[in-house]
Amino acid sequence: MPSESAKKRQAQKKERERQRQKQTSAKKKQKAEEQVNGASGGVDGNECSEGACAAAPGAVTPSEDDAKVKSKPVDKKSAARSCTGVLASHPLSRDIHINRLSITFHGVELLSDTGLELNIGRRYGLVGLNGSGKSTLLDALGNREVPIPPNMDIFHLTEEVAASDMTPLQCVMEVDEERLRLETEAETLMKLSGDMESERLQDIYERLDELDAATAETKAARLLHGLGFSPEMQQRPCKDFSGGWRMRVSLARALYVKPTLLLLDEPTNHLDLDACVWLEEELKKYKRILVMVSHSQDFMNGVCTNVIHLHKNTLVYYRGNYDAYVKTRSELEEHQMKRYNWEKDQMQHMKVYRYTFT
Ligand SMILES: Nc1ncnc2c1ncn2[C@@H]1O[C@H](COP(=O)(O)OP(=O)(O)OP(=O)(O)O)[C@@H](O)[C@H]1O
Ligand SMILES: [Mg+2]
Repeated sequence: MPSESAKKRQAQKKERERQRQKQTSAKKKQKAEEQVNGASGGVDGNECSEGACAAAPGAVTPSEDDAKVKSKPVDKKSAARSCTGVLASHPLSRDIHINRLSITFHGVELLSDTGLELNIGRRYGLVGLNGSGKSTLLDALGNREVPIPPNMDIFHLTEEVAASDMTPLQCVMEVDEERLRLETEAETLMKLSGDMESERLQDIYERLDELDAATAETKAARLLHGLGFSPEMQQRPCKDFSGGWRMRVSLARALYVKPTLLLLDEPTNHLDLDACVWLEEELKKYKRILVMVSHSQDFMNGVCTNVIHLHKNTLVYYRGNYDAYVKTRSELEEHQMKRYNWEKDQMQHMKVYRYTFT
């Protein structure tokens, strides 16, 4: 039985949700009117200025509006990729299950008729030989070339923030787009399911609370500090920083946004030891879905709850961190080897038997 105070909190939350729904609709209406009157100066011109777009590199947004705002030219890599698969999980689920996934890159099949299973709350380490297709898989997921539900938000860390006049703090705090997207997603979910209690909707409202402007700066500053930015550095324009440091800003933004699916390819590449240690602690607490490629076994041991092995064009799943994966795999291989030897002995035995008695 929920306590009185829990009931009260729940009621307050619902009220806040209702207010938010109202505000979102009002904002949208106002925006539409402005566009009709030509007063906004053009959505694209306003929202996709170089700084604003660059502030969220890799961020993939689901709504149609955002898709227009952030539409990127099809890059060469994605033109060379061909992906097929069937969504097996419910479109409103927070897990992603895709069956019969195949990915071809430059005519070479990297994944063939395999299953992708990503569950909420898990942090996956993606391992495989060099050139097996790990980065290609992350690119395909980040670009939504596989059937991921449109309301599932993804952040694929691919590039550093632009060398603009914005400060790292501003880049990280540039969350209005994120807030608008979450509000749109909540509205879509309400229309689709009408269930205010749904887990996903609750998650979105919690995140909207987290994006509260009152605490936004403190949170952004904490993330930047963890990644090596002193308070003075946080106020300098991004154009004064090298690509590596701007990559850290991008990483801070990814952590700030906390997407449902976070894709990181070698996130420690631009970090010193202190920042690596801090990032490990931060990612350990990641409650949504993380898929990460890292050459550091220690880092993977600290962060990952599961390992996906890209092996012979298929995805093989293991529970536990990297060490657990190595142990399970060696046990499996030993078992297979024993079985192989046993079968070989049997064949030999049969041959001798046939030779003797026939
Ligand atoms: N421009 C290209 N033309 C043709 N083949 C390419 C090109 N770029 C990459 N490949 C091939 O695509 C395959 C997958 O590459 P990908 O970068 O996804 O592998 P990876 O597992 O991430 O490797 P690594 O561990 O080295 O990062 C590789 O076999 C690579 O040779
Ligand atoms: Mg790679």
